[in-house]
Amino acid sequence: MTSSILRVENLTKRFGGVVAFEDVSFKVAPGEITSLIGPNGAGKTTVFNLITGLYDKTAGCIWFNATGDDPTDVSEPVFDPLHAAMVSLVSAGVGLIALAHPTARRRLYYLRCTPDFMTCQGIARTFQNSRLFNDLSVLDNVKVGLHARANANAVDAILQTLRHRREESEIEAAAGKYLAFVGLAGRATNAASDLAYGEQRRLEIARALATQPKLLLLDEPAAGMNPTETNDLIALIRKTRDAGVTVFLIEHDMKLVMEISDRVIVLNHGRKIADGTPEEVRANPEVIAAYLGEETPRDGKDDA
Ligand SMILES: Nc1ncnc2c1ncn2[C@@H]1O[C@H](COP(=O)(O)OP(=O)(O)OP(=O)(O)O)[C@@H](O)[C@H]1O
Ligand SMILES: [Mg+2]
Repeated sequence: MTSSILRVENLTKRFGGVVAFEDVSFKVAPGEITSLIGPNGAGKTTVFNLITGLYDKTAGCIWFNATGDDPTDVSEPVFDPLHAAMVSLVSAGVGLIALAHPTARRRLYYLRCTPDFMTCQGIARTFQNSRLFNDLSVLDNVKVGLHARANANAVDAILQTLRHRREESEIEAAAGKYLAFVGLAGRATNAASDLAYGEQRRLEIARALATQPKLLLLDEPAAGMNPTETNDLIALIRKTRDAGVTVFLIEHDMKLVMEISDRVIVLNHGRKIADGTPEEVRANPEVIAAYLGEETPRDGKDDA
């Protein structure tokens, strides 16, 4: 059986009466570039929002396997005795009553699979719409990513302990390396809002990489880019994969998708309609009808 870093099984998400997607299953192989494509509203971003803990699933499993031998269902809330004890203390009698009720017990005493939990597991992402800290410097935006794995706590920061100061200088140096990796070394002191659009997308990637992920999710990284910026992005995605980070991306730019993907998964109206190599997907009649469209005939007979 092919190993997978991410295995989504029968995943369903409903928003009230709206079914974002239903019974979707797929795998992402480690060390590869996998693309998720489909028409607007197909459910692609919602898949990412579930994988990164922004939304709770309606049904299904998300198995994440960062180490190669120990998959965890990261979509399943975790019972944490300390958290449960804290909730009981704070809510006193109400907590005891809630303990007896299955739904309340799950809501109150189980830790949700939150975005910070997913970050610690080794999953990072960028967003469809830029979520940079515009007033912070370029370097500080990357430092935010590195702080996700920092050991010094708030007390260390207030007291300016040696541990805090040492860690801060390490974080500053590491942030510079991530900026160099995405080609923004010379922009460290600029405000993030001063960057050109393509540079802002690269800064988001640097911030995500700074959390030291095993799996990087990119939601439409090429949207709004000119051809030169897109080519730079293709090179950066390949460099990221070569550095050992598995890449899973959503993209509407079919040239980029077909050029860099090892596998392509196609969603349409919340259902998976294809999953294969770029060549297989490009030739799939259902994908052509739902999303890609027929190529313009090029031979003389059809042009007549
Ligand atoms: N928070 C939400 N509340 C209610 N409905 C939502 C929410 N988020 C997404 N949806 C619905 O889920 C469906 C899938 O949306 P999603 O954003 O995942 O599509 P998408 O494939 O990413 O589209 P696009 O290519 O336009 O970004 C849509 O019908 C959308 O309206
Ligand atoms: Mg989307």
